[in-house]
Amino acid sequence: MCGIVGYTGRDNARDIIIDGLKKLEYRGYDSAGIALLIDGEINIKKHVGGIENLENLIAGENLYSHTGIGHTRWATHGAPSDINAHPHASEDGRVAIVHNGIIENYVELKEELIKKHHVHFKSETDSEVVAHLIGIYMQESDCLEDAVFKAMGRMRGAYAIVAVSADDPDKLVAVRKDAPLIAGLGKGSNFIASDIPALLKYVKEIYLIENGEMVVVTPDSVKIFDENRNPVKRDVFHVTWDVDAAEKEGYEHFMLKEIFEQPKGISETINRRLDEDGKIKLDGISLTKEELDRFSRIYIVACGTAYHAGLVGKTIIEKFAKIPVEVDVASEFRYRDPLVDENTLFIAISQSGETLDTLAALREAKRKGARILSVVNVVGSSVARESDDVFYTWAGPEIAVASTKAYTTQLTCMYLLGLYMGLQRGTITEEFYREFIEDLSAIPQKLGDYLKKKGEIEALAKLLYNRDQVFFIGRGLDSAIAYEGSLKLKEISYINSFAIAAGELKHGTIALMEPGTLVLALATQDFLYEKMISNIQEIKARGAHVLSIAKEGNRAIESQSNEVIYIPPCRDELSPLLSVVPLQLFSYYVAKERGCNIDKPKNLAKSVTVE
Ligand code: F6R
Repeated sequence: MCGIVGYTGRDNARDIIIDGLKKLEYRGYDSAGIALLIDGEINIKKHVGGIENLENLIAGENLYSHTGIGHTRWATHGAPSDINAHPHASEDGRVAIVHNGIIENYVELKEELIKKHHVHFKSETDSEVVAHLIGIYMQESDCLEDAVFKAMGRMRGAYAIVAVSADDPDKLVAVRKDAPLIAGLGKGSNFIASDIPALLKYVKEIYLIENGEMVVVTPDSVKIFDENRNPVKRDVFHVTWDVDAAEKEGYEHFMLKEIFEQPKGISETINRRLDEDGKIKLDGISLTKEELDRFSRIYIVACGTAYHAGLVGKTIIEKFAKIPVEVDVASEFRYRDPLVDENTLFIAISQSGETLDTLAALREAKRKGARILSVVNVVGSSVARESDDVFYTWAGPEIAVASTKAYTTQLTCMYLLGLYMGLQRGTITEEFYREFIEDLSAIPQKLGDYLKKKGEIEALAKLLYNRDQVFFIGRGLDSAIAYEGSLKLKEISYINSFAIAAGELKHGTIALMEPGTLVLALATQDFLYEKMISNIQEIKARGAHVLSIAKEGNRAIESQSNEVIYIPPCRDELSPLLSVVPLQLFSYYVAKERGCNIDKPKNLAKSVTVE
């Protein structure tokens, strides 16, 4: 986590860096800081809280500079505070760094720096050791890249670091290991950042920096070196998004904008995978019948919302392709010695493609010989680059911390993959395949129409926002949506919410039902509808307040519920794409009613690059 930006060039570094940091606030917003090279000195300003606090701090100050670095923090080592905010400086104040990641051996480095070099540490962070190390190596030569290279050799862990030095000015030196880093290519100005949105306003041509690489940036050049400091030739990556994609475009929050972008994201994801005959094309991803028949099992591994997409993927792939699928949270997968071999297909799902838990699980599966297919939103991200094949979601940039459009495009990929595998293996008929694709392709239109009724959900949120706890229940695919709905609500509204398979309630959790307890009951699976009604009756009998989600036409549920949200009719398998949307909107409006910081919930960050 944490966002970093560096700039060197003709223009005012301060404004460009602050602007870039604002686009990276999704990566953390515990504190923000900037270091600018001014008149042969490094001037550091930092403040706890979001970028606006930093802006207030420096408002009115004359900080004109052509080179600088900035940081927005998600705290790992040391509480959010002014002192722990980045940039950190070397003992003599001639070097400053910003860091995203964790320096695992910082305790031993810190001891060494204190004992041998009499360094005084100001912060509780692991990152400060980097500034001191580079500062000490700068005393051996005035070349920043030499000093950074030597420091890199001493550090273990995950990091993207950018350094500046007052003794080697007009230069940024950055290194990357397991944390994202890009370089932006301008004219007479060049950039460094954690992610593309920070640079979109200025450049469309970038270099994706690889693990172990160092990049040396001056106003006129961007040079990349491998871990042995050999020059590397990198292809330019042309960014196709426009600035608007990373702006709110009149919506009050990115989350609301992204909820409304779902019809477009889903149809993009489908259309890019259909040929003129309406058949699924995998373009370069090789999943032949022979290969598919060889896979004895599939693992879907992911975190959070992406994991919930995997739960739907399991049902769909098992049903269509008849291959056993296990779904696991990435942070558990690699530590349980999973049964993976060359007959395993490992599917990683990740919006950012930078989630360290997912990346580590992927590497573990790769080490054991599995074939790696990833479902990823961010083109060129680490998960994408380390996979054998990538199935991109075409959600566009997702800025709000709470994932919405990434989730529904991930579900779309699960349907496409399931259908493709099923047809290849002959476990579904050509007729079923065609009809299903037709129905899937109709979802964006249905969703677009449904979103026009957002006022209905807003009214329900106004009625029900003031709860201490909420339960989400469902059966079959609805239970996967219950998990996602519950996560959405808790992460942005801070309400203690809990999801459980409806049939499992009676085995313990029903003890928590009291008069007035709010339960969101999903009942969109026709073949489980009656069973679900029975589960709703059980909680109603305990006095629960039930808000049900059902398909239009299934009106029997009204007599069992306090309120009902109707989604457009669709086949059972496809209901997740529709039923999750009222839950996203409900969470959004509840959080709004409670005055929460919707796009940047407390304690969270968009991209989780620590274990
Ligand atoms: C919740 C949310 C997270 C992410 C999780 C995985 O709204 O966004 O649970 O889904 O951190 O992130 P990615 O998909 O980037 O690997």
